[in-house]
Amino acid sequence: MGGPRDSLPDPLTDQSWLDRLAADALAVLHGDTGGLSATLPGILQPQSHGLPKDDDLKRLLAGLTPESVLAPDGRPGSESSVFYFLDPHAATLNERTLGRIPGEAHPGFDVWAVRRDFPILAERVNGRPLIWLDNAATTQKPNAVIERLSDFYRHENSNIHRAAHELAARATDAFEGARRTVARFLGAGSPDEIVFVRGTTEAINLVAKAWGPRHVGPGDELVVSLLEHHANIVPWQQLAAQTGARLHVIPVDANGQIRLDEYQRLLNERTKLVAISQVSNALGTVTPVREVIELAHRAGVLVLVDGAQSVAHLAVDVRALDADFFVFSGHKIFGPTGIGALYGKAQLLEAMDPWQGGGNMIADVTFERTLYQGPPARFEAGTPNIADAVGLAEALKYVERLGLANIARYEHELLAYGTAALQAVPGLHLIGTAPDKASVLSFVLDGYCPAEVGDKLNREGIAVRAGHHCAQPIVRHFGHEATVRPSFAFYNTVDEIDTLAAVLQRLAKGQRSK
Ligand code: ALA
Repeated sequence: MGGPRDSLPDPLTDQSWLDRLAADALAVLHGDTGGLSATLPGILQPQSHGLPKDDDLKRLLAGLTPESVLAPDGRPGSESSVFYFLDPHAATLNERTLGRIPGEAHPGFDVWAVRRDFPILAERVNGRPLIWLDNAATTQKPNAVIERLSDFYRHENSNIHRAAHELAARATDAFEGARRTVARFLGAGSPDEIVFVRGTTEAINLVAKAWGPRHVGPGDELVVSLLEHHANIVPWQQLAAQTGARLHVIPVDANGQIRLDEYQRLLNERTKLVAISQVSNALGTVTPVREVIELAHRAGVLVLVDGAQSVAHLAVDVRALDADFFVFSGHKIFGPTGIGALYGKAQLLEAMDPWQGGGNMIADVTFERTLYQGPPARFEAGTPNIADAVGLAEALKYVERLGLANIARYEHELLAYGTAALQAVPGLHLIGTAPDKASVLSFVLDGYCPAEVGDKLNREGIAVRAGHHCAQPIVRHFGHEATVRPSFAFYNTVDEIDTLAAVLQRLAKGQRSK
């Protein structure tokens, strides 16, 4: 890739932001992640996604020579080698590699080994190796998940909870075991605080429908942020329309971070609930949910955290956060589609009415009345998505084995590298430049509409989303109807980012794809 441009595009002219990112990136390169973490709030530890300034980056990249790395067989690499391992004797290498060689920079995390766990990453698209950069839309699945689903259907498949036979017992054990895994993964106090749902959208609708009408009335207020996905806007709009409540919106600053000062002003005795994403799907902003929750609780307000874009990238502990509700989708975290979870504090779930009626959620039914189960069964009417819940648990165990701290560090460097690489493309404008970001780069390119860029990238085997990302308010706030959005996961590499940047460079120069 070429070096970043000498003059950075608006809004990247904020020197303090650049200085902070540069310091952060250099700290990572020096292995000084302790310093980074110390600047971050609490358990989430979102990291500022630093990028070296022009001179730093050039110096770092100039230092990366083929001889300074070893190929898999232990011999020095050549330019065409796939570089797996750092030479342990080359003391200064760590400064030079910027995430290119995961072995040294990320003890316990080897991206090349990880990639072998994901069979689809060997796919070819339009004659090119697939480069999957649409992870914010959905993630790919490791063999562990694919095989677990297959095993379930081969050896355990049955309906749950209702039959007196061996397979019902196996399926019930697997399903309830999955609930325990989700509870552990989120740091919930009990598996009873985990309700299986189809995904984030259904989880938010569940809370809006089951909690909402009982607690929200005419003149009451609900708060969301300008960053929200439609799934965290529309259910609250519907609740407001149904109850006569008002919906208020936390504004964002020029970088796409929420304005905490404005947020504080929105909280008052009429406010009943704040619903906010932990990571913006459109911009990648990591929001300060810990502070959001603290301020809300001081005002006696509940908080629902949309974790759809955060759980695969940051360690989450719902009790440390003190979130009242936390929701996420399995398919964004290497699990199946059609399964997700709602975490709710036990006392809140216990006080909520069912939202759907049917089997599984009842204790006793007569034609005169129905007695309901307690949570979580009360919210799981009908036969649940048993196999995919089991698959989701397998995905969470896979992520736990890799370690979210390792994942966050690696992705941090990918994002820093990708930010610099895209900034170097003439006429490319990044949308969303908050210091705390996770795994998303949203941009527009002069002379092209986002759909065209998406199409050109697809022809090179590169999958990105181009559009409004189901977050029209925030995309429009930045003056666009659509952006191009590459989004990373831990199986992506800097080589893939180089390929992305090279195609964009060609487009920027008005050259046709090769
Ligand atoms: N919410 C998904 C996205 O951001 C679909 O692309």
